[in-house]
Amino acid sequence: MDNHGNTDIKTWTNAELHTLFNIQSSRQTLLHAEREGKIPTAIRKSHGQTQVRNWTIDQLPAIGEKYGFISKPTKPTVITVFSPKGGVLKTTVTFNLARVLAIHNIKTLVIGLDIQKSLTELFFPQGTVETLELAQTELAGLKQYLVDGYSLDDVIASTDIPTLDIIPENSSLNFLEKWIYGQTAREMTFERDLIPQLKERGYEVIIFDNSPNWNQLIENSIVSANVILSPIGCDIGSFQALRTNIQTMSEFRDTIVDRSRVDNLRNFVLIPTLAESNKLSRQILASYIRDYSDMITTTTIRSSVKGQESSALYMSILEYDARSPVAEDYRELIKELRKKFDETENVKEFDSHPPGPEIRKQSAPLPSKVDSQHSEVTA
Ligand SMILES: Nc1ncnc2c1ncn2[C@@H]1O[C@H](COP(=O)(O)OP(=O)(O)OP(=O)(O)O)[C@@H](O)[C@H]1O
Ligand SMILES: [Mg+2]
Repeated sequence: MDNHGNTDIKTWTNAELHTLFNIQSSRQTLLHAEREGKIPTAIRKSHGQTQVRNWTIDQLPAIGEKYGFISKPTKPTVITVFSPKGGVLKTTVTFNLARVLAIHNIKTLVIGLDIQKSLTELFFPQGTVETLELAQTELAGLKQYLVDGYSLDDVIASTDIPTLDIIPENSSLNFLEKWIYGQTAREMTFERDLIPQLKERGYEVIIFDNSPNWNQLIENSIVSANVILSPIGCDIGSFQALRTNIQTMSEFRDTIVDRSRVDNLRNFVLIPTLAESNKLSRQILASYIRDYSDMITTTTIRSSVKGQESSALYMSILEYDARSPVAEDYRELIKELRKKFDETENVKEFDSHPPGPEIRKQSAPLPSKVDSQHSEVTA
């Protein structure tokens, strides 16, 4: 039985690996590689008269590194995922990105900063805990490391992928937040006392998943990040929240004590998510592309039942259904982000004065119907 209570542990056949990693070469490639000892030896599962090769999740990194669609970053990269809008796929993007990097043999650490524990829940679901005593215990986390003197070994948990670790969320994140507030140069706490120590342990990518409510943990993760990923839903609520998001980031930039860290905020990347095929969603996406062309990804993550299902089963979408259109979205997104990791210095500074909504007096007539022809984009 795995961490998630699944008795039937997922494995990958040769054909499934070709789809997962988008391998273009012949079907013989992996079979030859296995025979020559270049990739791990598959287990054999009986399928009628034949023995079918199947590889397990812990074997995927060695295969992904050779045959996958992304290479290791040239320098350690710290990513933070933040958006003040709830439910726009921050945790899902963190989870999917981390798992896909890890199966490409990129040593990855995820750090959950949300008291809701949504990221931790994806790795260690409470639903599978069998006794009340166990349900009342919590894994040690960031507060125990930064405040109570625990070692990194005490707070870093392994996952089912050998190249992916997590510092789990626990209820003392609230305390940590208040504690950081009392420190001098408080937004530098992670940068000073956490990130160098993690890089020393060989993590190639570190990803923070934030809560939607602005706090000291978010400020710290932003200051220590090379790339800030901000998912934005293609819905009216997200559309209206985006200006506030950019404004908040810009105001925060002005308060950072160490001015050399301000450069980090140049690498602010918007990811359109939850795109629907209806007219409003398409218009919103078109306006994002028009107004934020220099910081928005060309890939959009569509709204999808498969996306929901994969999270519900604690899998990345690529592991769950590598053929689905939303899996293709993630593949493209991750390739696009991977390029940004190496060229972070070249990303344009974000405009701190984005176009705002037109302010309309309540007494003014409503605008006439929008000409959809100019706003539509093809998904
Ligand atoms: N492609 C998708 N389409 C629609 N729903 C999805 C998709 N992928 C994931 N979901 C579901 O959307 C919900 C919200 O996602 P998620 O928790 O990642 O958002 P969030 O931005 O982290 O939210 P919060 O602000 O509460 O932290 C989850 O229930 C998730 O399973
Ligand atoms: Mg979340």
